[in-house]
Parts: sequence; C-alpha cells; structure tokens
Amino acid sequence: MSMVSNIKLIDENGLRIDGRKFNELRPIKIEVGVLNRADGSAYIEWGGNKIIVAVYGPREAFPKHTQNPSRAIVNARYNMAAFSVDERKRPGPDRRAIEISKIIGEALESAIFVEQYPRTSIDVYIEVLQADAGTRIAGLTAASVALADAGIPMKDMIVGCASGKVDGNIVLDLNKEEDNYGQADVPLAIIPRTQEVVLLQMDGNLTREEFGQAIEMSKKAALFISNLQKEALLAKYSRPEEKEEVKEEEAEQENHGDDNHE
Ligand code: CDP
Repeated sequence: MSMVSNIKLIDENGLRIDGRKFNELRPIKIEVGVLNRADGSAYIEWGGNKIIVAVYGPREAFPKHTQNPSRAIVNARYNMAAFSVDERKRPGPDRRAIEISKIIGEALESAIFVEQYPRTSIDVYIEVLQADAGTRIAGLTAASVALADAGIPMKDMIVGCASGKVDGNIVLDLNKEEDNYGQADVPLAIIPRTQEVVLLQMDGNLTREEFGQAIEMSKKAALFISNLQKEALLAKYSRPEEKEEVKEEEAEQENHGDDNHE
C-alpha cells in the first residue's frame, strides 16, 4: 500500500481504471473438480487472478507427532508461481506466503467439522498462477469449494471479498493498481450460514466510518460470490446419471466405429 498519489485511479465520471463502479466486482468464474488425483479441487478466475486449489484428506496425519487425537489438523499452503507476477517471484515460501497460508488455514479450520476426523490432516494446496490483487480471498474462496468437492463436512463454504480506499473513495474488490496506489485494503471472509467473520485484515488507514462502509460492501459481495460457489458445485454434481448415459452412448458409438473398420 503506497501513498503515491500522482496516479489518478478514479476518472471524472466516477469510474475506476478498469471501468468499474465503486461497488462493482471483477468478473468471477469458478470450476470444480479440475484435478484427477486430488480428493477435491477447484479453479478460480477472479479479475486477473488465476488460482488452482487441490485438497487431500482427511488422511492419516504424517509425521505422526503432528496428529491430534481429538481432531483433524488443517494444513494450508499458499504458493505463488514464479511467473504469477510482473517481477519473477523467487520460488519458495517468503514471509508473505507463510502469513497467508496461516490465516487461510485458520479460517478453513473454523468452518470444517475437524472433530469428526481425529488424527488426520486435511491438506489444502493453493497455487497462484496469475496474481492481480485479492489472491488471499480468491484462494480461500476456491479452497472452500475444493473442500466441498472433497466431501469434507463444513458449516458452510467460506467466502469473502476485499474492499478498500482509492482516491478517497471506498471501493469494492481492488485490482493491482488500486492495491498498489490506493490508501487502504481490507480483505474479509465470512461463513455465510453463521455470519462469522473468519478473516479480517487491514493494510493502510481508514476512519471508523469508512471501515464500516468497506465491511458492508464486502459482505454483500461475499453473499453474491457464495452463490457462484454453489452454482459451480452444482455444475459438477447435478444430473450425474445423465452424464453417465452420455458416456455410455459415446462408448457405444466408438464401438460401432471399430466395427465399421473391420
Ligand atoms: O493478493 P492479496 O491482495 O491477497 O495480497 P497482497 O499482499 O496485498 O498483494 C497484492 C498483490 O500484489 C498480489 O495479488 C500480486 O498481484 C502483487 N504481488 C506481487 O506483484 N509480487 C509479490 N511478490 C507479491 C504480491
């Protein structure tokens, strides 16, 4: 969050540099079950962010001393690909990735019924392929969908959004330029069913009133994104019988094709 103010982020019509209104989200697309070897997976595109998440478990926690006899442990690993940002990102965990992994893991843990799986670990790999601000929330939002895809029982799918301050205005879902040259960034994640706040951070400065405004904006957006999560799951799991039928038909047609050759 830099305080450089000679870059104009809002034009005379009140539009942001990518053409959005103050309370407008970037386009979001979620896909479920994109990896065959993971127990659950999801891919999210959120503005310029592209993130893939793989979930493994619950499985016996290893090494053994990490096991908790009364509940599952949740290991989240947030990682940025070297090519995900303008300047090559040096591979491996840095302070930022360690922080983000920790807060995402803690958020997920508060939604998962961890007591149902003693001595196990649930491993969540968040790989950022392309970053454009808001990756922690986009990663967490996709991770929840991947956990649901893995069939892990939860209170609800966690969802979130960031809001912040740009050229003195409170705006929703900051992009990279707004994050870099704006005055504040406040990522928020909630459990929609219980309305619990499971992640809340602030970079920069806001008045109490502005802070309230930012939270309200993000919460509203989060509920909208919550529906996108559900739609993505439904798209994978609805009408599986029909999909099977289609596969059978295709197989039959292929067989006929073979017959013709003979
Ligand atoms: O991504 P998020 O907003 O959750 O976290 P951030 O620490 O506020 O980072 C904002 C953005 O800065 C990231 O999404 C990346 O686009 C960018 N960034 C970068 O270009 N190089 C890094 N080493 C880290 C972040």
